[in-house]
Amino acid sequence: MGWTDADEARFAVARAAAEEARRRFEDHDPYTCRHSIRVADWAVLIAGHVPGFARSRLRVLEITALLHDYGKTFIDPAVIRKGDRLTDEEWAAVRTHPDLGADRVPVAREFVSPDGIRWHHKHFDGSGYPPGDMKGPDIPLEARLIAVADVFDALTSPREYRGDPREYAPADALELMREMAGAELDPGLVALFQSVYDIECSRHGGKVGASTLQVRSVIGTEVARARDLLRAEIGPFDPRDPLKGRRPEPRLVDRLVTGLVRANLDRASATNIVRYVLRLPLDETFPPSDLAGAPRRGTTPPGGFLHHVEVCLDLRRLPPEAAYAHVVVFMGQLWLAVGERREGGFEVRLAR
Ligand SMILES: [Fe+2]
Repeated sequence: MGWTDADEARFAVARAAAEEARRRFEDHDPYTCRHSIRVADWAVLIAGHVPGFARSRLRVLEITALLHDYGKTFIDPAVIRKGDRLTDEEWAAVRTHPDLGADRVPVAREFVSPDGIRWHHKHFDGSGYPPGDMKGPDIPLEARLIAVADVFDALTSPREYRGDPREYAPADALELMREMAGAELDPGLVALFQSVYDIECSRHGGKVGASTLQVRSVIGTEVARARDLLRAEIGPFDPRDPLKGRRPEPRLVDRLVTGLVRANLDRASATNIVRYVLRLPLDETFPPSDLAGAPRRGTTPPGGFLHHVEVCLDLRRLPPEAAYAHVVVFMGQLWLAVGERREGGFEVRLAR
């Protein structure tokens, strides 16, 4: 049976409920802020290369990965924020989060895999938790996919507040994950992730940073979501000329933007994505007068910045809508921006 607009609509409602729940539990822990979104993006990216992984199952996986740590909602936030120096008793409490999440996840069972949540800390060799005689391919595939995505995101994200500021380059993270293959992680999925990573790299003509890879999946996911929403509104369309040269009615733009905001995004990012999908002119996010110097290229691959996948901007001030990581427009293209305060202004790293 094919995927219908009715399926899409039902999943969009479930996805929005999952997103609400994710925001609630990530308030518990600054580290996990947006961690689950990234884990869901990675997990879906890998699963998309698993032969025969159906579209409906991909959508269930996305919701499951968004809520894989939902059980932490029920654990004392002081314990969750404490990081690695936990007492035995506190560790025991933390280890209950997969079961708590699986049993209490606030999404209908049709749209989520409780077992994917329950077993995401179970190791391929049977160690890990919760206890249970479960290992290798007996562990649900959703849980093994989430584990790979979870480990990669943890390794490539800064964790200063835990007293562990290390943040691995993606290649180093993948190297470490190869060492974990067969023990903590499913070796087949680690190899698949490696090849997905290589495919993404070759698309960019060289190495890419973790941010770039993540951004590609974020922007790609959101563009696809915007196109799905547009299809539900106007039926099939040609992506190169979706409105057949007509101007969109303002309410159409509003409905699409609202759909993206409900799913994932802030309003400014959603507006940029919708305008991109509708082939409307894009407004530059950073006025040239705010630039304190010429754009610099990022630290990853060589090449001129215009063809480049990572660019740094020094800004005297940050436009209000660019205050947090989100999709911006620079030189007529969509980028994900990560801003940081610097002496006398801001540095914004753009990646695409
Ligand atoms: Fe977890």
